[in-house]
Amino acid sequence: MILALETSCDDTCAALVGDDGRIAANVISSQEAHGRFGGVVPEVAARAHVELIDVVIADAFARAGARIEDVDLVAATRGPGLVGALLVGFSTAKAIAAARQLPFAPVDHLAGHIAAAYLSPEVFEPPFVALIASGGHTLLLAVRGHDGEPEILARTLDDAAGEAFDKGARMLGLGYPGGAALERLAATGDPRAYDFPTGRSADFSFAGLKTSLLYRTREVDTDHEQTRADLAASYQRAIVEALVRRVERGLERSGLRRLALGGGVAANGVLRARLATLGADLFLPPLELCTDNAAMIASAARYVEPLSYPDYLALDVYATGEGRLR
Ligand code: KG4
Ligand code: ZN
Repeated sequence: MILALETSCDDTCAALVGDDGRIAANVISSQEAHGRFGGVVPEVAARAHVELIDVVIADAFARAGARIEDVDLVAATRGPGLVGALLVGFSTAKAIAAARQLPFAPVDHLAGHIAAAYLSPEVFEPPFVALIASGGHTLLLAVRGHDGEPEILARTLDDAAGEAFDKGARMLGLGYPGGAALERLAATGDPRAYDFPTGRSADFSFAGLKTSLLYRTREVDTDHEQTRADLAASYQRAIVEALVRRVERGLERSGLRRLALGGGVAANGVLRARLATLGADLFLPPLELCTDNAAMIASAARYVEPLSYPDYLALDVYATGEGRLR
């Protein structure tokens, strides 16, 4: 059984997964502490991970009905992410592995998002195009096998898609994170009321869109509920169209007709519905496997060459620099 930890951002996660990809436990503790700051505060996240990690691991063992003796591989997210946050899960995992002289697998966070597709009971095998869109990343990849480098079809030049949702939500007076709230407000709005830019480049870009919304909110009466709903719907439509257009191009360019979604933005109903019209074989993992979790890290660990004890002891995390899929 694989024990995996994930602490790259603000979720403290531990999972126990079988070598066959069956999830025995997948514990996710989302930190509540960041809402009042309007975004994740790295130092607050790191401290919260320290407080939560032991409890989350113990909970994973309890839910799986497993013992440490059942673990034959320990894995953890190495990067990219917030360094202080990453260090908590990575050091804890190394310490557990070292204490039992077990092999250790360092896992790239984005390889983890892709490997969510390989978890039971619904396994989606390569080749496929993967759209990973969250608060921290927006990547479109051609995944041709379990290991090896996926080809990057498009990446973001500035903000992540989830970040665009969150910043838009903030301008419309919704809380943080605001993606789900913006989607709810948009439900009663007209998506064609305002014309927002979707970016011209082959890559994703959301900075212009954000600025455009800012100017609009200055021109109109944002106390008027229908106006806010129209703004939300039009803004959401621009993000969704920006994503969908590049997915469409990526499918064409790669010659693939299969598409997997990952990241918290995959929760968006308008995006899901729009992607379903592309004619590709669409795979939507359950939401708890789309957002940050440790089961996906365990899944990816199955395709990483593990390091034997004590070769991993000096291994460090990376914020962005060494990640394969930045
Ligand atoms: O993967 P995730 O839970 O965490 C990381 O960013 O690592 O993704 C969270 C992001 C946030 O930006 C949030 O606003 C966005 O996903 N999100 C949504 C929806 N639910 C969550 N965006 C659009 N529509 C939603 N329904
Ligand atoms: Zn993520």
